[in-house]
Amino acid sequence: MLEDLLDQTFDTLRGALADTGPGPELADVGTLLEVGGGIARVGGLPRVGFEELVAFPEEVLGLAVNLDPDALGVMLLGHGDALLPGMRVRATGRQADTPVGEALIGRVIDATGRPLDGRGTPRTTERRAIERPAPAIMDRAPVSVPLETGLKAVDAMIPIGRGQRELIVGDRQTGKSTIAIDTIINQRGKDVICIYCAVGQRGTAIARAVETLRRNDAMAHSIVVTASGEDPPGLQFITPYAAMAMGEYFMDRGRDVLVVYDDLTRHARAYRELSLLLRRPPGREAYPGDIFYIHSRLLERATHLREERGGGSLTALPVVETQAQDISAYIPTNLISITDGQIYLSPTLFRKGLLPAVDIGRSVSRVGGKTQYPTYRRVAGDLRLAYTQFEELETFARFATRLDESTRRRIEHGRRVRRILRQPAGSPLRAAEQIAVLLAASEGLLDDVPVDDITEAEQRVRERVSEAHPQLCEDIDTGRSLDDEDWQALKETAAEAVSGLRRTG
Ligand SMILES: Nc1ncnc2c1ncn2[C@@H]1O[C@H](COP(=O)(O)OP(=O)(O)OP(=O)(O)O)[C@@H](O)[C@H]1O
Ligand SMILES: [Mg+2]
Repeated sequence: MLEDLLDQTFDTLRGALADTGPGPELADVGTLLEVGGGIARVGGLPRVGFEELVAFPEEVLGLAVNLDPDALGVMLLGHGDALLPGMRVRATGRQADTPVGEALIGRVIDATGRPLDGRGTPRTTERRAIERPAPAIMDRAPVSVPLETGLKAVDAMIPIGRGQRELIVGDRQTGKSTIAIDTIINQRGKDVICIYCAVGQRGTAIARAVETLRRNDAMAHSIVVTASGEDPPGLQFITPYAAMAMGEYFMDRGRDVLVVYDDLTRHARAYRELSLLLRRPPGREAYPGDIFYIHSRLLERATHLREERGGGSLTALPVVETQAQDISAYIPTNLISITDGQIYLSPTLFRKGLLPAVDIGRSVSRVGGKTQYPTYRRVAGDLRLAYTQFEELETFARFATRLDESTRRRIEHGRRVRRILRQPAGSPLRAAEQIAVLLAASEGLLDDVPVDDITEAEQRVRERVSEAHPQLCEDIDTGRSLDDEDWQALKETAAEAVSGLRRTG
């Protein structure tokens, strides 16, 4: 009885509310107290929550990050030059979000979806919050498919799996971005969506990266999301999270995604700048206390989902810049501990022209090895060990006057292996060609070829094997393992290809 009465009353009330229709809305409006350096303090908005968007005049948005009782500390996501104290600031009740969808592919945009390529606004139909909890452990599957970079030094020695997080670490100008861009180029025709997220770089560097991707037909499967060093630090700070949200859209639909963060050192610096201006207590290297968390919560979102969740994957390749090879600095150590391995680039190798300057001994991939195709394992298994031994021998041999024959041969062999791990920028190789070249090296077919002719020999092996064994090459590219007969055929073709270059006598 009483329940019926209550129901009736509620119905009447609901009806009455529905009838009111559009009318004046209640909005929280506060006042801008201070603005400068990419942050603002706003009074009179006590109900705004953490990381809620607030709207300034001139269509500038900000992210509320300090909730002091008397004022809000806000990161500006746009240029605040036109803002003055006393202006009105509106609460929006929204979290920061970004457009997502197929329409972004081929585009250069910023974290808010603004086009930066001179074309119209991308026609997306969906938006997603830029922050999202990482998938639960129960929803994750082990990485099982390789993510091929097309670089012999990486695919053979430090293999990466889809859904893995592999750090690219090195001093400035050691070829970090080049490795990442080459990996994106190599995903042509592989059904992997690539997102190049550039943070804090110079505008010219970003333009060069986009140009390289265009020239190599890589924009057809890529999105470039950027905030340059001249952009407000707040925008730089949210850009990696926006790129992650764009990638998750595809991962949730069962697709494979690769996201490059170039680079997180600059991302951390933007955050440090904001935190200091917001008067948060500085810690080690003046970074705020939550600096580890901003990177871990980002990279934890990269994963390989279980079949039941669609089986999609998101591979993250964060880049971090070191100073004077100091990988024990704060940000590099944090990132090394968050990721599943690192590709270490050495300035010494770079100066010697041994490019890509991957230091095999200091690089590691903790999970990708399990995804490596068996063909690689067969040719690269001993190569890594032989190579590290060679590096030691070479240093030692500098002091020796006379070397016994076997040591001399091992050094000569190592020199050739080092040479074939070289690869120019912008020319990733298919698995079959890599395998053919690595096979030639590991079987010692190149040991009699003068070091200066190794590049020529490599070229001949690649061409001859592709020509003579199209079906075998297809098998290698798709990860099938070869039987002894196939190996023998490959080896014979490779030997034939280099026979003209071998020193006789
Ligand atoms: N494998 C390679 N072959 C030839 N040149 C290369 C190779 N890798 C890198 N380079 C050249 O070295 C230079 C530096 O490369 P890159 O910009 O990738 O380095 P970086 O570490 O990203 O630099 P920064 O610290 O400025 O971001 C570029 O001019 C690039 O063309
Ligand atoms: Mg770079």
